[in-house]
Amino acid sequence: MSIDDVLLPAPEADVAVDPLAWFASPGPLELEIGCGKGRFLLHRARSRPDVRLVGIEWANKICRYAADRMARWGVDNVRILRTDASVFVQTNLPEACLTALHVYHPDPWPKKRHHKRRLFQPPFIDAAVRCTQPGGRWLIQTDHTEYFAWIRERLDAHLQLQEIEFDDPRFGPGEDWAGTNFEVIYQREGRPIHRVAYERRC
Ligand SMILES: C[S@@+](CC[C@H](N)C(=O)[O-])C[C@H]1O[C@@H](n2cnc3c(N)ncnc32)[C@H](O)[C@@H]1O
Repeated sequence: MSIDDVLLPAPEADVAVDPLAWFASPGPLELEIGCGKGRFLLHRARSRPDVRLVGIEWANKICRYAADRMARWGVDNVRILRTDASVFVQTNLPEACLTALHVYHPDPWPKKRHHKRRLFQPPFIDAAVRCTQPGGRWLIQTDHTEYFAWIRERLDAHLQLQEIEFDDPRFGPGEDWAGTNFEVIYQREGRPIHRVAYERRC
């Protein structure tokens, strides 16, 4: 396997894609936004070969690192795209295609004047709900207490989202949960790790 088998060209905005067509066979589809160096993706892909995983990462070097990592391990159920996940979810992804959405340590943009750059804005949230199958799950984790409260405020108020238990081995966390790259660093530093999960209502 080579990096080119994993790293796909990003679609232009407003061009609809069929993510399952990127894989040799169909299966449940999960999306990780801001996959970074791909620690979560790699462990998830290896423990659940039946799941198709798409990772979106904006930073070019990190994105290539993650794709190369998947190729070196020979996991064929991961595809990675270098693009803006907010645009991807709002304009490229089809409705009700995801069984799970993973967002671990999204950039917190702590300064008030930068809050508009945060991922969890209403247009993104509405689009991500549309892209999630009824019964599909969102798993979110951050070390940033104020951003965690911001996210919860918006998602708790969404009529199509219902909070559920985070620790569900079918969707990642479980005995084989290896954590994400940032989680490992922040845990070592003793920072708090906040987690929440939601299910899309019908
Ligand atoms: C703090 S890091 C966390 C990486 C990884 N999830 C982890 O927990 O180790 C946030 C990542 O999200 C990426 N990112 C931020 N905004 C993004 C966007 N709009 N689309 C795609 N990736 C984004 C950044 O480049 C960065 O790699």
